[in-house]
This record gives sequence, C-alpha cells and structure tokens, in this order.
Amino acid sequence: MAKIKTVYVCSNCGNDSPKWIGKCPVCGEWNTYVEESIATSATKTKSEILYATEKAKPLRLKDVETGEDPRIDLKDGELNRVLGGGMVPGSLILLGGEPGIGKSTLILQTVLNLDKIKTLYISGEESSRQLKMRADRINANNETCYILCETNLEQIFTQIKNINPDFVVVDSIQTIHTELVESSPGSVSQVRECSAAILKFAKETGTPVVLIGHINKEGSIAGPKVLEHIVDTVLQFEGDQHYMYRILRSIKNRFGSTAELGIYEMRQNGLREVSNPSELLLTQNHEGLSGVSIAAAIEGLRPFLIETQALVSTAAYGTPQRSATGFDIRRMNMLLAVLEKRAGFKLIQKDVFLNIAGGLKVNDPGMDLSVMSAVLSSNLDIAIERSVCMTGEVGLSGEIRPVNRIEQRILEAEKLGFNKILIPQNNLKGFTTKTEIEIIQVRKVEEAFRTLFS
Ligand code: TYD
Ligand code: MG
Repeated sequence: MAKIKTVYVCSNCGNDSPKWIGKCPVCGEWNTYVEESIATSATKTKSEILYATEKAKPLRLKDVETGEDPRIDLKDGELNRVLGGGMVPGSLILLGGEPGIGKSTLILQTVLNLDKIKTLYISGEESSRQLKMRADRINANNETCYILCETNLEQIFTQIKNINPDFVVVDSIQTIHTELVESSPGSVSQVRECSAAILKFAKETGTPVVLIGHINKEGSIAGPKVLEHIVDTVLQFEGDQHYMYRILRSIKNRFGSTAELGIYEMRQNGLREVSNPSELLLTQNHEGLSGVSIAAAIEGLRPFLIETQALVSTAAYGTPQRSATGFDIRRMNMLLAVLEKRAGFKLIQKDVFLNIAGGLKVNDPGMDLSVMSAVLSSNLDIAIERSVCMTGEVGLSGEIRPVNRIEQRILEAEKLGFNKILIPQNNLKGFTTKTEIEIIQVRKVEEAFRTLFS
C-alpha cells in the first residue's frame, strides 16, 4: 500500500510546501494553499529521471522542419478566426467560462459539424443520454463522432488507443482524475497531472485536444495557473446568461493573435455565429429618446456600433447611486467627474445608471465619448439625432484622444447608414478613403456636446 503523504499546494502557481503557509513565497498570493494528499509510491529515483533513455536531441533551429502547418477547418467561422485560422494539429486548447454559458454546446456543435474527422467527446459531467439529447437539440448528427462518459484518465487513454480519434474533447478537465495522484478530482495536483498527461498525448500523437475548464468565483480558470501555462491556447467564453449573446475571446494563443473575437447568439437549437454584430445591437428604433447614444466601438479587431443607454435622475438619498452594466464603473465615475467639471453636471445630486445594450461587456476606451453623451442627453432630456454616432477616448481634462483603427470604425458606421460620426481630432492621419459619411473632428468634450445638443 502506498504511503499517503499530504502536502500543501498553492492553487495559484502550483508551488508546494510541507506546511501550510499564508503567503505563497513564489507567486506572492495570499491564502492560496490547500491541502492535498499524494501517493509516494511509484516514484523514480532521481538518477533514473536524470539519465532517462535518450529521446529528443537538440537540433539547430534552422534545421527544424515545420511543414506547411495544415490547420484543421472547424467549419465555424468565429471559432476558426479566434484560433488564428483553424486548429493546429497537436495543439492543446483550454476553453473556460462560467457554468451554463454554453461551453459544452459550442464544442459539441463544432464536433458534430466535422463529418470527415473522427472525433471523441469525453464527458465527465453528462451521461450519454444527456449528450444525445443535446445533440438532438442542436439538430446535427454525424457518423464519426464518438462519445465516452468516463472520468478515469487511464481508462480514457485506453479508449483513445482503441478508437484512435483525430480530435479529442475533454469536458471538463476538473472532473478527470488519474490513479497516480490520490487527491480528489478537481484538486490542484489532479488537474496538473491530468493536463500534463493529455499535453504529452497531444504533442506525441499530433492530435488536437480541447479541454473545457471551469472558472472560479474570481473569473479565472479553476486549478493551478500552470494549466494556463502548459496549454497552447486559452479561450474564454463569456456573456450574460440573461442575454443571448456570447463572446469568445482568446486570452493566450501560441498560433495566432489574441485580439480576435468571436460572437455567437444562443438559440433554442444551439449557438449561431453572428457575423455582423452591429445589426443585432442596433435593432431598436430610439428616435427621439433621450439618454441613448451610439458608439463606434472596436472589440478585438472587429468594429461594431453599439447602443449606450444612460438614465440620470435626481438622487433621493444622501449618496447618489451609480450603476453600470457592461462598462467599468470606475471609468464611468471618472467620466462623470469630467462631466461635472466641463459641462456643469451636478454629480452629487444625481443617480446615474448606465447600460450597454445587448449585455456585452466592452473594454474599448473609444466608448468614453458616447457614455458621456448618453449621460448628458439623459440629464438634459434632449435626444441625440438617430443618424449620429461617435468614438473617442476622454482624458481627465476633457480632451478627446485618438483611438485605434479609426478607419474601420468610420467605414462600419457608414455601412450601417449613419450620416455623421464624431471622432477625435488628428485621428485621421493616413486615412484617404472617400466616405459619404460626414466626419466631424472634435478636440474637447465641450465641442462634441455643442455639436450634439445645439
Ligand atoms: P452548456 O453548454 O451546458 O453550458 P456549459 O457547458 O458552459 O456549462 O449550456 C447550457 C445552457 O445553454 C442552458 O442553460 C441552456 C442553453 N441552451 C440553449 O439555449 N440552446 C441550446 O440549443 C442548448 C444546447 C443549450
Ligand atoms: Mg458543460
């Protein structure tokens, strides 16, 4: 019987210690040590590890052959783009996201659409009947998709050897356990060992593997940070459960840019790719309504026009209320302070509620101008013209700063039929395309407000 030893492992960086410590000496995080039991048998001696049989030899980098990197087309435009143009053979991809956001749906749907590739979907969370029901709901069926409901890593590898799939999905890495480690599934050492074994499998056989991972309360992927280090690509699936839009972001990608972004819509029958997000985000006719302004924003590399809504009302209590959905509340507070200074907005007497339509979370600083305009529009109760949109970052002294990818923003606005766009001054360098849309350059927020509200 193997002797069981317990160690304390940092759930952030995976460092271990024989004693519990409050602050991790390696990563500096507090309160991250958790107790884990490990089996001490079946370990090799140090010299066995050091002088193992020779496998890989050092090569000169210029002698390494890359081939032409044949990427696997996943038949899903958004996913392909986020991965940098398809999936690379032998890559290990981690997909994280909140429970119920649609991770399993996205991957099952992708797998079912690949009818020429033999795929194995390993589920440690759902039974085969549940998977079948989901597949029926998605309404896709194919001949080459195998499913396996198993959580034991050794069993999984045996089955992989039997079936010899071209693409493997593990849903989720936190439910898988290996016999080599005695702690419970989902613990730091289990997740680390299992993913390391899967990584080895992926690299040695050239089979791409997608791992689905849970995220914890703070929004990062549960388990050690090392998990994110060992995989090639980390994707995050996010969105508000109450809305139908979902965003797929890449946080790390060894084979492509992390600036790309995919947008989906959750339907009754699975996820639908959204290739033109602006049209969805702008459906409502807000002619004549105050507190609405349209921002020409960029998320990732894609431009889209998005509705910013604000409601300003007189504060009933001593402390005014501030609430922002889809926008950073600290940033909003800063913008309100600028408004107070520049536009005589009485901050202390007003409740401010801000909402980015569609439940999207936008991080683009180019949203600033539109957030301020929406607040001011609601405060003055003057509607902004329907055909005007704007973009611009606002600085502390009320100056409007240049934003990136201005051309894309302008062209997107023009495509969607806007007549005017407010942009930061001196932002047009190198922009030579002839446009129908009237471009108004503004230097300060006062100028912008004068254009919008007079
Ligand atoms: P799921 O993929 O199980 O989420 P995760 O694996 O990230 O936990 O998605 C579950 C949610 O998606 C569930 O609340 C129902 C919804 N859903 C649809 O709206 N339409 C569908 O076709 C499917 C399969 C799920
Ligand atoms: Mg799931």
